[in-house]
Amino acid sequence: MTAVAVSSNRTAAAVRPLVALNKGLVYRNAANIAPCGKAALDEYLKQLADFQQNPSFQNREIYKPLSESVRAKLAALLSAAPDEIALTRNSSESNNLIAQGLRLKPGDKILITAHNHPSNTQSWQLRAQQAGTTVVVADVPIYAKSPDELLATLSKKVSPKTRVIAVSHLTNTTGLLYPIADLAHQANAWCHVDGAQTFGWMNLHLPNLKIDSFSGSFHKWPMGPLESGMLYVRAARLPELTPAILSIDYWSDKPTGARKFETLGQRDDPKLRGLEKTIELLAATGMAQIESRALALSARFRAGLAAVPSATLKGSGHPSVSGPVVKVQFPNQDLATIYNRLWTQHRIAIAKTDSGDAAGLRFSPHIDNTEAEIDLVLRALKG
Ligand SMILES: Cc1ncc(COP(=O)(O)O)c(C=O)c1O
Repeated sequence: MTAVAVSSNRTAAAVRPLVALNKGLVYRNAANIAPCGKAALDEYLKQLADFQQNPSFQNREIYKPLSESVRAKLAALLSAAPDEIALTRNSSESNNLIAQGLRLKPGDKILITAHNHPSNTQSWQLRAQQAGTTVVVADVPIYAKSPDELLATLSKKVSPKTRVIAVSHLTNTTGLLYPIADLAHQANAWCHVDGAQTFGWMNLHLPNLKIDSFSGSFHKWPMGPLESGMLYVRAARLPELTPAILSIDYWSDKPTGARKFETLGQRDDPKLRGLEKTIELLAATGMAQIESRALALSARFRAGLAAVPSATLKGSGHPSVSGPVVKVQFPNQDLATIYNRLWTQHRIAIAKTDSGDAAGLRFSPHIDNTEAEIDLVLRALKG
């Protein structure tokens, strides 16, 4: 597998000027949408103008080779093969492609967790209704301190009838990191991993995870343009999955490998330029460096919370089961008041979940954040 050429080894702090974020914003919401890289945004907009000014077939000849070059660069970043990669619109679409595309038979069981994203829960519920199968929901031990504890809750729900295991790699609710490779080893099932919260900050080598499929969104941690995603399907298992959407030339062109999941008719081809620049920024910064930086920033934040009166971490925060998504509760305080104060007084942009198992404020720092910003947020939380 050829590695993506690393043109320079940027320090993570130097990434800040490279993203399109307004000055004065303290942005801590990469788990939802991260600011797009400037080069990705500029190149995308330039290409879009070029397309619209001359939409002739002649001017569009560049897009097929461009999509192959983006696919190859992404595959190299993830240690996958280009044939295993589909360029989708987001993780939701990718999760649904798996739920709709697998052949299931009555009696099969689909194991998910109570903290899956709706696109990886509701899609399976619908599929189970259609196919006469059952969805089994594993509890999420939010305060687990080790991968084994997480694994145990899932393992005890696995049975010989388990046909699919579909979990989030890192939960968007409380930032729990599932030991995916250990899980996949255990079960003789299709293992689908929703990587919306790890794709872009984690140094992923997909074959090492020993999973069958993996979803991601470019507009989250990879800092790419909106409405762009990916789906990885392990080569050996591609024949088992049928596409949910077919369009022009599907039969005559016979798209090979995972390309069969992206025949969506006319697409936003100029965005490929943005994806190309996004992958180049990740590769040039270095995924190992991005991972360690994202983890260090979130560890600093978690540690600092101990000095914030009434702030209570939702989750153990143990490094072996945590990623850069940090959920915090404030017992006996009104969440909306804190959320609004952070925004109006400090321009701190985060996410808020009002109720349920994952109620609280969610902070997801990324590599464009500085230590000073982490400390600023901690000071702001003190009131
Ligand atoms: C774990 C997880 N899966 C899937 C999604 C859906 O991502 P998208 O809206 O990009 O499809 C999200 C979004 O927050 C998520 O956190």
